[in-house]
Amino acid sequence: MHPTQEALPRSETHLSRSHMRAEVISGLTRRPKVIPSKYFYDERGSRLFDAITELDEYYPTRTEQAIMEANVAEMVARIGPKSLLVEYGSGSSRKTRILLDHLPDLAAYVPIDISREHLLRTAADLSAAYPGLNVLPVCADYTSGFALPEVEGPIERVVVYFPGSTIGNFEPGEARAFLEHVAEVAGRGGALLIGVDLQKDPAIIEAAYNDKKGVTAAFNKNILAHINRELDAGFDLDRFGHLAFYDAEHGRIEMRLVSLSDQCVRIGSTRIPFREHEPVLTEYSYKYSLEGFAALAAAAEFEVVKVWTDPERLFSVQYLEVR
Ligand code: AVJ
Repeated sequence: MHPTQEALPRSETHLSRSHMRAEVISGLTRRPKVIPSKYFYDERGSRLFDAITELDEYYPTRTEQAIMEANVAEMVARIGPKSLLVEYGSGSSRKTRILLDHLPDLAAYVPIDISREHLLRTAADLSAAYPGLNVLPVCADYTSGFALPEVEGPIERVVVYFPGSTIGNFEPGEARAFLEHVAEVAGRGGALLIGVDLQKDPAIIEAAYNDKKGVTAAFNKNILAHINRELDAGFDLDRFGHLAFYDAEHGRIEMRLVSLSDQCVRIGSTRIPFREHEPVLTEYSYKYSLEGFAALAAAAEFEVVKVWTDPERLFSVQYLEVR
């Protein structure tokens, strides 16, 4: 299984410990070694990711927010009245609020998250902030099947919101399968509003994953601390280094942890050997060209009908309709 196959940023996994143990040990006994990126997001990992979004070098979050703010009128005009707005991985509600501020006539807002705690907190906050809004949280792994909740009254269309360029964590085949699943959830006449990070000068991208303060390095290494705590493991974080580089051929950031020495690490009763300089892949973050993403969308029965970008074309927010 690939590390990013079940990428679920900003959510506690809530999978059983034995499942996590099996996935981590299987990933670390292959070559090259891998750890699924969803294991970044324990509590400290989520806080470190929040800190990443505030870094000077990390352009995606603030750029996406600016795109949302500048174009929200056009976005809500497309979403239209009496829509069911379904958000996948409802991590930060900050971008969602930009939409909700301008959507007084939603049929309902359905945040979906695998972390029950996170989900219920978001749902409660939004209910308080938007008293007229029907908030119907669904606790589920959005990469597998789930049922949309029953809503009273007519629904004009289902619009899925998937911000943050989280799609970038999927490999192309997985991204296509994911979009096919979204198309099924949205159904005929449905749509997807999605944040997609764009290909650009590799120096800009690499800086975003190699910040001067070392927050991204701490975020990367925290995956080992999460494993130590959850699986009774003995990783020494000082014996691994952070590595992130842009692979232009694949259009992706590859993030790795590199063993700084020959070492043997215990995970419960299992021992895993690492050679000096041996890498462990922890994350892919794909960047798209507009043409490349349009082709991916088309392969998944979607049509890109509108693309909003910032003046520097760093990031895009795209509106796709089910064909
Ligand atoms: C949450 C997956 C969009 O790929 O930029 C940030 C995660 N990793 N810095 C990204 C991340 C390292 C982020 N996503």
